[in-house]
Parts: sequence; structure tokens; C-alpha cells
Amino acid sequence: MLSILQCMDCGRQYPTDEVVYTCETCGGLLDVQHDLDTLRRTITRETFDQRLGMLDAPYNSGVWRYKEMVYPDVDPSLIVSRPEGNTNLYHTPRLAQWAGVGKLYLKHEGENPTGSFKDRGMTGGVTQARVLGMTNVACASTGNTSASLAAYAAWSGICGIVLFENKEIALGKLAQAIAYGATCIQVAADFDRNLKLVREVSAALDMYVLNSVNPFRLEGQKTIMLEAIQQLRWQAPDWIVCPGGNLGNSSAFGKALYEMHQIGLIDRMPRLAVIQAEGANPLYQAYKRDFDRFEPVQAETVASAIKIGNPVNYPKAVRAVKWTNGVVEQVSDQQIMEAKALIDGHGIGCEPASGCTLAGIRKLVDSGVIQPHETVVGILTGHVLKDPDATIAYHRDQLHGIHATHRNVLHEAEPTVESIRAVLGGEVVSPQA
Ligand code: F0G
Repeated sequence: MLSILQCMDCGRQYPTDEVVYTCETCGGLLDVQHDLDTLRRTITRETFDQRLGMLDAPYNSGVWRYKEMVYPDVDPSLIVSRPEGNTNLYHTPRLAQWAGVGKLYLKHEGENPTGSFKDRGMTGGVTQARVLGMTNVACASTGNTSASLAAYAAWSGICGIVLFENKEIALGKLAQAIAYGATCIQVAADFDRNLKLVREVSAALDMYVLNSVNPFRLEGQKTIMLEAIQQLRWQAPDWIVCPGGNLGNSSAFGKALYEMHQIGLIDRMPRLAVIQAEGANPLYQAYKRDFDRFEPVQAETVASAIKIGNPVNYPKAVRAVKWTNGVVEQVSDQQIMEAKALIDGHGIGCEPASGCTLAGIRKLVDSGVIQPHETVVGILTGHVLKDPDATIAYHRDQLHGIHATHRNVLHEAEPTVESIRAVLGGEVVSPQA
């Protein structure tokens, strides 16, 4: 056995074929712990470089390319893969200039099969469901996890059950979960309550929980770091910046960077910056108090994906910030939508929560935390089509409390050349000119 489940607090260990999410002794969160000594001896950058461009499973996946660091001893025939990952890392000089940094790369996790980074975790989680012989998988979700779970459950022929709030779920995500055939249950409760509920229901009804409390999810999400840094020819950037909601990504990134450094895949640790929405900022508030205690908040933000007040992975996110000498910042809904509009207007596009990344980078440069000469990798977490309501409302300047500073006005015209000419005004230059 190369991997074991281990409590991050008391160290108690469990075999990987046991259905367990948190420590039965102390309630602590569990890690999938790999044998780093073996990996240090057997894994090099070339191991992963040789697999680039492979056409066959499992190495055609941007998650399973790094199988030794995700789930080394899993039987490949059990892997459930779409395949996911292999997302672009965009070099974005104009956005870098806006944010005030020398080099900015945006890794677009919205380019995964269901349009969010959740697919990287879900391939790990649904694969583990098959290892355990579970036939029902369940989650609570602000939307993206439900879309991803629904797709991966359908793909592997097991039942998916998703719980979400009966309001504020983005249209694209709801449409996906229904389309992929999951049992979709709208509950009169917010995400935080639904997460507790799904854990209670799963224990009672023998369902496997695939929220990010599941450590196998986080092993898949680690590969965002592996892939981004491989795309940078294994040169670690100065900063990794990502949004924080339930804090699964931040936790996974911290673990990935720690392990990559331990194994020798990178020579130095990048610093992690976790960006929360002002209205859903419990990690930020704790950070400001030197993590002396955790206090949940009642969450409210335009970025419905991260409307989370009681993040389950809080202890792992604190560990990630400490491991990487990281920081936590908050941004307003106004700043989130402005940054999103810029990313969208660049032709890249993302959903509101991802706007945190760019807005946070700019704020951290303004306050002198990120230096202008430093290299930053920002993570975009979801596709632009996930939340069309928010995008259209922004450009109609109808978002409550938000001023559309980068508005692209939707025009109307009569079906005549003159009318179109009047709309275009002097802005279009004819090719002959
Ligand atoms: N960005 C997007 C687009 C998300 O969907 C989420 C989380 C996050 C950021 C935050 O990531 O939880 O790892 O800190 N969405 C979850 C869901 C909670 O149910 O889809 P995190």
C-alpha cells in the first residue's frame, strides 16, 4: 500500500478502502497520505513530461497524468475519467498591466468537461466510489459540484443525488445537473445547512459524500498546481491566487505545493493568496486575527458559487496558508464583477467567483503584498456560461448595489443599413480607409 488515510490533527490512520470522511477519534479532517520517500525516489519531472500528449487512458487526463501523486495504487480499470484537466494557461499581459504585475498567467479551470475545476476532484471521488463499491453518490452544492457529480455519476453508471438551495443557484449549473440525470433536490436551506444535511442523509441512506470534505476529491484538485507548474516548465511562480469558498482548492493547492517541494519537482514554494468575497469571508476574518479562532458568517455575495459561511476545509486551508507563507484577502462584489467583466472582455470569460482572482491580485499589488516584478498564476474556476443571469444583469446595469463600470451595452436597431450605421456611429472604420 502506497497511500493511507490519515487524520491531520491526531494522526490516526485508516485504510483507503474504508468509507470514512473525518476522524472517528477526534473529528479532524483526513488526508490521503502518500509515501513521499518512495515518490521522491521514483518520480521526476520527466515522468510527467513523457506523458504529455498521450492519447490513451488514463494518462490522456490532466489528472491521471500525475497518477502517482493522486492515487498511486488504484486499479486503472476503476478510473472514471472524461478525461478532465489539460486546461489552458493563458499569458495575459494586458490584464497583468491592469492588475499591476509583470507577468500574469490565468489557468482556466472552466475548460474542464463540465465547465469547472470540480471535474478534477470528481474523477478522484467517483473513482473512489467504485473502489468502495458504492452505487449512490451525493453532494450539497452551490452549483458546480452538482453539475460535475451528475456528469461523472452518469458516465460511470451510478446514481447521483444533489442538494442545493431553492434559490440563487446559477442557471447553467442547475440545467447541467438536471440534464445529466441526477436526482436534484432543492431545499429551503443555504449551502452550509445543506452540507450538514447531506452528511446526515448519506450516513442514514448509504450514499457516498462527494463534497470536498472527501479527501479523494482534493487529491484530484491538486493537479491544478501540478499542471500549471508543468506548463511553466517546472519553474514555480512567485504567487498562486485563487478564490476561496468551501476552501477545497486552497487546501488541495497547499498540499500539492508541499508535496511537489518535498519530492523535488519544484525548487521553491510559491506563496498562496486565497481571495474571498467580502460577504462570505470567514477565512479572511480569521486570518486578520492570526487564525486564533474560527467564526462562521452568514454568507451573501453576487458570486453564488462561493456564498459559503462555514467552510468545511477551514483547518486545511489554514495549513495551506502557513505552509506557503500565504495570505488571505477579500474583495467586494463590485470588484468581483469588474474583474470578471475584464476577463470576459478579453475573450477568456469566467463566472463571477473567478473574478475574485484578478480583483484580489490587483488589491494585493495595491497594498504592496504582491510586488510588481513578481510572476503570478491566477486560477479561473468556472466557465463564463455557468451564470448567464449575472453576466446579463451586469451589462444591463441591473445588479443591485453594483455599478457596471465595464458595461457592454446591448443595442437595438431597425433592419436597415442606416439604422445599423447609426448604432455603430464613427466607431467602425471601413477597410479602405
Ligand atoms: N469558484 C467556483 C466557480 C466554485 O464553484 C467554487 C465552489 C469555488 C470557486 C470555491 O472553491 O470551495 O474549493 O473554495 N463551489 C462549490 C460547489 C462549493 O458546490 O460547486 P472552494
